[in-house]
Amino acid sequence: MWCYNLSMYFEKEHEVWRTLYSRMIPRWERYANEHFRAGIEALRLDSEHIPRLEDVNRFLAPLTGFQAEAVGGYVPAFLFFDKLRNRRFPTTVTIRSADSLDYLPEPDIFHDVAGHVPMHTDPNFANALVRFGECAHTAAELVSEIRDEETRVRTITNVFRAMARFFWFTIEFGLMRSKDGLRVYGSGLLSSYGEIEHSIVSPDVQRYPIQLEWAINQAFEIDHYQPLLFIVDSFDHLFSLVDRLEKWMREGTLNNVAPGEPGVIEEDLKSFLHASVPAVR
Ligand SMILES: [Fe+2]
Repeated sequence: MWCYNLSMYFEKEHEVWRTLYSRMIPRWERYANEHFRAGIEALRLDSEHIPRLEDVNRFLAPLTGFQAEAVGGYVPAFLFFDKLRNRRFPTTVTIRSADSLDYLPEPDIFHDVAGHVPMHTDPNFANALVRFGECAHTAAELVSEIRDEETRVRTITNVFRAMARFFWFTIEFGLMRSKDGLRVYGSGLLSSYGEIEHSIVSPDVQRYPIQLEWAINQAFEIDHYQPLLFIVDSFDHLFSLVDRLEKWMREGTLNNVAPGEPGVIEEDLKSFLHASVPAVR
């Protein structure tokens, strides 16, 4: 486990956290789903200082068993999903610099702790995330049965691309119906001052009820506001979609999805191909 403590941060980094956090508060009140807002309350996040994960976990773990676990850098996909299966959330501990408050391609502690972790206080959302982690195991099991190497690599490339698209359009950029209209539950939106509002009010965004067959075939780009977002009815609905994703995986439906983004890097593929999983029953 990555070791760190509060003293690893400079005052100017706490200042970045303070700026990011304070400007998000009115946007969360207006656009975030109620489960996220309850999560922010439950975690008692420090608005003035970058929180210590052990403090966050003290409030988080009793609610759903989830814990934020510090990581020092990129975690290959299978290992990341396997952590979710075990109710651990790999959490970046670095923070963006003051001159890139609005966009950065990689996660930082603001995205991970203020954007993702409050969602993990909700039992239904947490269960959907664990179920997604189980899907990664299913994927690794299924491809471990394929003898021909070229077919094995092609299959896991497609299955992983489908999983990455699903994760993107739900966990990172999902919208949810509520009695007050559409609300945000995706962490990429919850941690973005500009895009959280854009996602709900802009006429430039297409918002559709999620269809699994669409999401898994839909390419996305990460370097601009999303033009297309998908809506779920509830976290029970989200859970049922993850269930269906696994069913389709077993049936081979994900073995040949539409090409395009995201690109699949070798490190992620290897993490599935070298995963230690029991054989398919
Ligand atoms: Fe994220």
